[in-house]
Amino acid sequence: MVRTIAILGAGKLGITLSQLALRAGYSVRIAGSGDPSKITLSVNVLAPGAIATTAVDAARQSDVIILALPLSKFRKLPKEELADKLVIDAMNYWWEVDGPIEHILPSGMSSSETVQAFLSSSRIVKALNHMGYHDLHDEARSRKSPGRKAIAVAGDGKDDVRIVSSIIDSLGFDALYIGNLAKGKLLEPGGNVFGTNVSAARLRQLI
Ligand SMILES: NC(=O)c1ccc[n+]([C@@H]2O[C@H](COP(=O)([O-])OP(=O)(O)OC[C@H]3O[C@@H](n4cnc5c(N)ncnc54)[C@H](OP(=O)(O)O)[C@@H]3O)[C@@H](O)[C@H]2O)c1
Repeated sequence: MVRTIAILGAGKLGITLSQLALRAGYSVRIAGSGDPSKITLSVNVLAPGAIATTAVDAARQSDVIILALPLSKFRKLPKEELADKLVIDAMNYWWEVDGPIEHILPSGMSSSETVQAFLSSSRIVKALNHMGYHDLHDEARSRKSPGRKAIAVAGDGKDDVRIVSSIIDSLGFDALYIGNLAKGKLLEPGGNVFGTNVSAARLRQLI
C-alpha cells in the first residue's frame, strides 16, 4: 500500500504533483537540489502539508519516488536510498535546460532506460512526463468525471505498472499502459503524445 510519496524536484512539476498527491491523501516529502531551507517557504505556501527535506531523506522515507528534476541531473540522485524502490520517471530531455543530448543519453535508448541503467537496483516506470504542469493542475478530476484526461504509463514490471496506474488514478487521471520501459520513447519530446492533454481513447489513437 502506497502511503508516502517522495518528489525529487521542487519546481513547477514537483510542486504541482505535491498538490495533487496531498489532495489524494498521500503523505508527501519533497526535495530540491540542496538544503531543504531553500524550498521550505515555497512548499509551505504552495503545497501546505508537504514536508520539505533532502533527496536522501525523501527517498528513504517513501514508498514511491517521483523524479521531477532536470534529466541532466539524474546522476546526482541518491542511488543507494533509491535501491529496491519503485521510481516514477517524469523527466524529459530539454535542450535549453539539459544541454547537448549526447552528453546525457546514449543514442537509441529511451531516457527512462538510461535512468534505469543508472539506478540499476530501482524499478523505473515512465509516467507523468507528457502533460504540462498547468494541465496537470487544471485537469485533475475524480474517476468517472466526464472529460477526464489520461496519462500514459510505460514499464517492465506488471505489479509496478499497476501501482503507478493506481497512483495516477488517485491524482485525477486515467492511466493508459503503453508497453515496456523502452516504449517510453513514444512519450518523449518530439513524439505525438508529448504535451497532450487528452482522453484515454484519444491518447491510445496517438500512441
Ligand atoms: N514543467 C512541466 O510542465 C513538466 C511536465 C512534465 C515533466 N516535466 C519534467 O520535469 C522535470 C522538472 O521540470 P520543471 O519544469 O519542474 O523544472 P524546474 O521548475 O526548473 O524545477 C526543477 C527542480 O529540480 C530540482 N533539482 C535539480 N537538481 C536536483 C537534484 N539533484 N535532486 C533533487 N532536485 C533537484 C531543482 O532544485 P534547485 O532549484 O535547488 O536546483 C528544482 O526544484 C524536467 O525533467 C521536465 O522535463 C516538466
